[in-house]
Amino acid sequence: MNDIQLHEKILCLDLKKQLQQVKGEVFEAFEKVYDKAAFSGGSFVEDFEKSFANFCQTKYAVGVNSGTSALHLAMLALGIGQGDEVIIPANTFIATAWGVSYSGATPLFVDCTDDTWQIDVNRIKEKITEKTKAIIGVHLYGQPCDIDSLKEICEQHKIHFVEDAAQAQGALYKGIPVGSFGSIACFSFYPGKNLGACGEAGGITTNNELFYKHFFNLRNHGSMVRYYHDELGFNMRMGGLEAASLNVKLKYLPAWNNRRREIANRYQHGIINSKIKMQLQLAWSDSIYHLFVITTEDRDELTSYLNERKICPGLHYPVPCHLQKAYSHLQYQVGDCPNSEYLSNHCLSLPMYAELTDEEVDYVIDVINDY
Ligand SMILES: Cc1ncc(COP(=O)(O)O)c(C=O)c1O
Repeated sequence: MNDIQLHEKILCLDLKKQLQQVKGEVFEAFEKVYDKAAFSGGSFVEDFEKSFANFCQTKYAVGVNSGTSALHLAMLALGIGQGDEVIIPANTFIATAWGVSYSGATPLFVDCTDDTWQIDVNRIKEKITEKTKAIIGVHLYGQPCDIDSLKEICEQHKIHFVEDAAQAQGALYKGIPVGSFGSIACFSFYPGKNLGACGEAGGITTNNELFYKHFFNLRNHGSMVRYYHDELGFNMRMGGLEAASLNVKLKYLPAWNNRRREIANRYQHGIINSKIKMQLQLAWSDSIYHLFVITTEDRDELTSYLNERKICPGLHYPVPCHLQKAYSHLQYQVGDCPNSEYLSNHCLSLPMYAELTDEEVDYVIDVINDY
């Protein structure tokens, strides 16, 4: 199969292929938004909020302008701020930490395990002090984190459990969709996510009515009644065009997620090269494979080898959060989170999107097995 005729490169993500499929429907939806001039908030956002809450099996969903805003508002709604600490994984996209820092609190980075690459629950307890107000569990690469263990720690210490589900719309933990396990869950609908808007967008789910109402206020200049501002608020509303595109795409998400699961399954069974390590999938976690991350000892060599064969892997992420320059004032050192550091130096993301053909996936597998 190594000799298939590739007409184009196999990208890590080729979003245009998905967009092309739904273009007609999305453009029709855009026209409706345009005709109603419902560009900021409005009925298209409300429709999406209802559908997304239903999808996540939560009472409420609130649309905002990004996943980063969702995390920021989650911290504010929980009353987290200056002097507080929030535990998060060192191995995540940096925005998990931004949400904490914007609130005035300090992120406390904890290493991941060496197999699931999710936050190492056994390293959390030693980090908890009276300043700790929450743990953010990240469903990284689309795989639910160890929710029960994290919630148990939170309950013991009477702190909040928050989900960063930015990469995991539709992932299941013990058969239940993520988004309903935390006091609050935060989603990103960045265009490249499994459910991505045509534009920037994010969302928050919760079963708590007080939080829900508070999010409405916070995202809308701290105002429930126009021009009356009850608290310091933000302009973090979801746009109508983004909501309209999400309304169309949400219908397709289950099928797209299932196709990603099929592709992942093909990789997991097909790749037998001992130089390659894949993320451990646990029985209770049903990933939606936002990313398909592998590790290998010589990443640069493998990257060149794949590029020469028209395969373009991604890299998520080259620097773990605790060693980012933006957090140098927290004085973490190399060696503080060794598993996360190993990953950042050795990880690569294989092509993963629903439109990949079996032939393309098998080509990637064969090329990797020949490496
Ligand atoms: C784990 C994680 N958290 C938060 C975010 C932030 O989302 P956004 O890019 O919509 O602000 C992202 C998305 O990039 C993410 O992957």
